[in-house]
Amino acid sequence: MKNSAFNAGVLTVSDKGWRGERQDRSGDVIREILSSAGAAIINYDIVPDEREVIADRLVRWVDKGNIDVIFTTGGTGLSPRDVTPEATLEVIDRVVPGFAEAMRAFSLTKTPMAVLSRAVAGTRGKCLIINLPGSPRAVRECLEPVLDVLPHAVETLRGEGGECAAPER
Ligand code: MTE
Repeated sequence: MKNSAFNAGVLTVSDKGWRGERQDRSGDVIREILSSAGAAIINYDIVPDEREVIADRLVRWVDKGNIDVIFTTGGTGLSPRDVTPEATLEVIDRVVPGFAEAMRAFSLTKTPMAVLSRAVAGTRGKCLIINLPGSPRAVRECLEPVLDVLPHAVETLRGEGGECAAPER
């Protein structure tokens, strides 16, 4: 599969962004990085930090049937309003712990604050859903260790996966 063959969605979770009080720079960064990696961004939206709203949006995007990967950004920390991981866990069928493990391990080489993100990842049907923290810097640092894995993850989810040709570091 060529990199260009996967469809992605970006869901920014932010009360301030949703109210129009803050520019969604993190959403912009994810879209830029994914587009450069060859993905087609077919869904993008900003929702408030409300568990039901987040879960509902994820389900609606996945159930349309043409999306391979959804990145959320924001709402993964410890503030009382941070509920993105809970909303994600509510809608996924299977947890894929390696994504969050890789993102936190790599992030910890950049900042000790990485422990504060409760980000999770998993699959709903044939779609992979991955939480990212909310800042533009965090988004870059979390995408870096997982970006190259996405095409093969998507292939495998679609049932098209051949042998794992593990890329060298
Ligand atoms: N991860 C990386 N790579 N870089 C960062 O700057 N910030 C942390 C953490 N993860 C950070 C990071 C901080 S300060 C917080 S509070 C948590 O992500 C949660 O962020 P969120 O609530 O915006 O999702």
